[in-house]
Amino acid sequence: MEPLVAPSLLSADFGNLSKDIEMINRSEADWLHLDIMDGVFVPNISFGFPVLKHVARLSCKPLDVHLMIVNPEKFIPEVKAIGAYVMNVHYEACTHLHRVVQQIREAGMKPAVTINPATPILMLKDILPEVYMVLVMGVNPGFGGQKFIEHTIDKVCELRELIQLSHSDALIEVDGGVNLDTGKRLIDAGADILVAGNAVFSAPVPEEMIHALKSL
Ligand code: DX5
Ligand code: ZN
Repeated sequence: MEPLVAPSLLSADFGNLSKDIEMINRSEADWLHLDIMDGVFVPNISFGFPVLKHVARLSCKPLDVHLMIVNPEKFIPEVKAIGAYVMNVHYEACTHLHRVVQQIREAGMKPAVTINPATPILMLKDILPEVYMVLVMGVNPGFGGQKFIEHTIDKVCELRELIQLSHSDALIEVDGGVNLDTGKRLIDAGADILVAGNAVFSAPVPEEMIHALKSL
């Protein structure tokens, strides 16, 4: 099965977002990945709901919203209001993860759990049957354009096995450091969806990079 590709808007031209969103609309991208940061959970701040409202109106791709914030459950209504398809919350940011996952589902979105590079896959065992997707970070979250952490490949293999053992149908998405080389190896390890920021937006022709990632 060909991978799904979700370009991350974090590496787009913030001075001309509509141009980059239109490029993604025209491309073979499956989803648009949106990174929300609070300067607390991660050492950076990206954009918030006033900006996202406009981004959502311009995008014709399903929105894959990645919340790198503490207490993400507080913003379920706002994420729903922009029409998100998937809402990703961090395992490390949710004390009552099971409750948050149920709340996201009840709000009518697909719940996904994200794990940082230092969080072992096994921590997901009990939540796997409840989630639509697991987002495995290939870098420490907070910035685009970082170097891929090689151990992520082993984590994807391990997660694929755990999903099979748990009779879960959770999808595996990887975010951070994805390019044609790491993307190919992630797909071979069992990833379903690739997020790519820098690889897409620093390419001479971003639409061609999206096509190349889809063809891995
Ligand atoms: C990082 C974000 C990513 C980021 C990926 O914290 O969650 O979505 O945009 O950027 P690249 O693909 O450049 O590593
Ligand atoms: Zn992300």
